[in-house]
Amino acid sequence: MSVVHVQTPGGNYPIQVAPGRLDLMAESIPSDATTLALITNPTVFALYGERVLQALNTTGKKVVQILIEDGEQYKNGKTLDVIFDGLLQNRLDRKAVIVALGGGVVGDISGFAAACFMRGIRFIQVPTTLLSQVDSSVGGKTAINHPLGKNMIGAFYQPIAVEIDIHVLKTLPKREISAGLAEVIKYGMITDADFLDWCLANTDALNALEDEPTQYAVTRSCELKAYVVSQDERESGLRAILNFGHTFGHAIEAGLGYGKWLHGEAVGCGMIMAAELSAEVCGLSAQSVQKIRDLVAAIGCPTEPPKWDHDKWIDLMGLDKKAEGGQLRFVLLPELGKSVVQTVDVATVKKVLAKF
Ligand code: NAD
Ligand code: GLY
Repeated sequence: MSVVHVQTPGGNYPIQVAPGRLDLMAESIPSDATTLALITNPTVFALYGERVLQALNTTGKKVVQILIEDGEQYKNGKTLDVIFDGLLQNRLDRKAVIVALGGGVVGDISGFAAACFMRGIRFIQVPTTLLSQVDSSVGGKTAINHPLGKNMIGAFYQPIAVEIDIHVLKTLPKREISAGLAEVIKYGMITDADFLDWCLANTDALNALEDEPTQYAVTRSCELKAYVVSQDERESGLRAILNFGHTFGHAIEAGLGYGKWLHGEAVGCGMIMAAELSAEVCGLSAQSVQKIRDLVAAIGCPTEPPKWDHDKWIDLMGLDKKAEGGQLRFVLLPELGKSVVQTVDVATVKKVLAKF
């Protein structure tokens, strides 16, 4: 097992990563917990619910199950109320602990419910998609969507532990693996060129979810995210680098309609575009751009963006959260493993769009 320690003003906690960790996750339940609320969806419950219930029952504590519907479209206020109904009907108190079992949707909404219920109760993340294991379960961003914007209602609220079982990834569709690997290679691009080279040398093993490389990739990703988040929990500076490839990626998701490409797929392609922009603006070498393109292709993400006219791209990117005062802001790489956030004028962005 590997353990990564996250240290933030909002809380310190361990991320425990191991094959088969699901069966031992009760080790993270605090002894003073009164009741445990297991929040998950029917898809994940059917696959792992019984095992998790068995593990939680070893604590001797009362376990309450709350099932929410599966899908991004249910990450909303209505589902949040379903969770609050379950917590209140079962008379959970301030010493109850929420256990969020599922992908980023379950993790984000359960974390936000934990932040709000009785002004904050403890919660544990048990992420079951690759994206949630390497990204959304770490760092304390919790949220629901609003009809006027994705993730617009939320809180920074850290879990008390993250329990990661890499074997649960074996039941994920291949597209979800590719989308999660896009976030894995992102950490190499923005903070650790050696890790990027390691990923490039291990793409076959990662695509096949072999134990040792998967364990290393998930652990290293969590370490790199934990480092960034520990420097800047509330994204007043450094944390923004985690959005490398996301300005183009969000434009692709919004322009095609959410769900057509998975978020990680759009980010994968967006990282190639951001690499080309980095070459134009801050001197990233052609060889490094090619390495990023090769890696995105090798993990099975799309490498060609939609063919839209440039004004459509600019409009869509203007909707991105990093657009400030009419200027477009991007995370850029002066070299592999180093990142900066800077504004770029529209003419330069269009010059780069012309390359695709
Ligand atoms: P998801 O939660 O929708 O999961 C994808 C699908 O896989 C779902 O149908 C789910 O039920 C299923 N699933 C989960 N685990 C499975 C398993 N082991 N085997 C088979 N099927 C399984 O999607 P996601 O990609 O995990 O998360 C996306 C969400 O994460 C978005 O809402 C996004 O906004 C959020 N997010 C949050 C952060 C953050 O920092 N909080 C970061 C990135 C993304
Ligand atoms: N996924 C971006 C962040 O956690 O800040």
